[in-house]
Amino acid sequence: MPVTIARPRSLRGEIIAPGDKSVSHRAIMFNALSNTDTAHVTNFSPGADCTSTVEIMRSLGVEITRKDGENGAGDSLTVKGVGLNGLQEPSGILDAGNSGTTTRLMSGILAGRDIMTILTGDDSLSSRPMGRVVKPLTAMGAEISGRANDTLAPLVFHGGSLTGTNYEMPVASAQLKSCLLLAGLRADGVTTLTQPAESRDHTERMFSAMGVNLQKNGLDLVLEPSELETVDVEVPGDISSAAFWMVAAICHPDAELLIRNVGINPTRAGIITALQMMNADLTLIDERDVAGEPVADVLVKTSQLKGIELDGDIVPLLIDEIPVIAVAAAIADGETVIRDAEELRVKESDRIAASISWLNGAGVEAEGTPDGMILAGGNTIGGGQFQSYDDHRLAMSLGVAGLISSEPITVLDPDVAGISYPSFWKIIEEFGGLVG
Ligand code: S3P
Repeated sequence: MPVTIARPRSLRGEIIAPGDKSVSHRAIMFNALSNTDTAHVTNFSPGADCTSTVEIMRSLGVEITRKDGENGAGDSLTVKGVGLNGLQEPSGILDAGNSGTTTRLMSGILAGRDIMTILTGDDSLSSRPMGRVVKPLTAMGAEISGRANDTLAPLVFHGGSLTGTNYEMPVASAQLKSCLLLAGLRADGVTTLTQPAESRDHTERMFSAMGVNLQKNGLDLVLEPSELETVDVEVPGDISSAAFWMVAAICHPDAELLIRNVGINPTRAGIITALQMMNADLTLIDERDVAGEPVADVLVKTSQLKGIELDGDIVPLLIDEIPVIAVAAAIADGETVIRDAEELRVKESDRIAASISWLNGAGVEAEGTPDGMILAGGNTIGGGQFQSYDDHRLAMSLGVAGLISSEPITVLDPDVAGISYPSFWKIIEEFGGLVG
């Protein structure tokens, strides 16, 4: 059912960021492959994507228990490791739902095993590029086939035996990097990856905590085949979910929000840098370390924003936040130009086309470019009815737009927010923003 959001008089209070999606996937997958003990994972992401990972691991014979978190805390899970070679052949097809991270990381886990597996997902996932993982995994010796000349899901993993690789990554992608590092764990010989730019490093951090022999030299990663030791993970709050509230607060005329427990890993914190460049009143409080990941509370207040240019190495560090940065850029003083973000075209939707479509519909001067967008700035966001093209981050960006727009905004397909943030609309309701 559609939801309609209108600007509440003020936006004040506290929010606890839900568990990080990227860290949650990894905590389950890596501990499932460990050969020692049972791991405890707390503050697990409530989103449907991470549940897809849990269900796939269960189908492969991994024992996982899940308990609801109390008092707003995320769920607690236990995962019993089966060892690097202990996964069992599933009786059915593995369904990754909407999750690109599940598909690409599981590809590295399933490649070159003596079990046959089929991995697929929803319509959006089935149109996303998988050749980027199939090609290097095949070069390592895996036997994989897929639709469209082995570039699209469903992917079928038949077997093969893996040898290490020396691979120059064509794109700064944490999913691709993690896929190849996971394959490298079981390969014969060393795996060396050269990255074109830094991308989120949760895999590297968790691998190090699990005893993997992984060296980093500049942008190169060198991995020796290694066993994984179980590690308990307290998942930090998701900066990508917190980003919606950061933008809502800096854009609203009467706002002060404290967002608690936000992961601020430097390879994810591009949104903080970008908003500070825009002149946002944003302060990090109580910076601390949680299970090898830096965390802080983030205080955000009404701000007088200015347009900025975003390109180059910062782009992979805020790639998921660009749809909501566009909301702030629409009203900021002066032009914002986003370049080097062609990856946005192959996310859960074409996020350049989808963002420009609703922005223009709401009266915002903005145009798409092949690798980004240009927003004139200084606009008032008007109202209207918009769809998210089944993209959770688009749906939530529309929700944020509704909190600051001059007229109500109706989101025609809001349920998709549950992919990463099921309580998103309820929080908007608590702020008094939900009017229909
Ligand atoms: C993710 C990596 C990013 C990001 C995605 C989650 C991850 O994708 O967009 O939401 O958990 O590794 P790419 O690495 O393909 O850019």
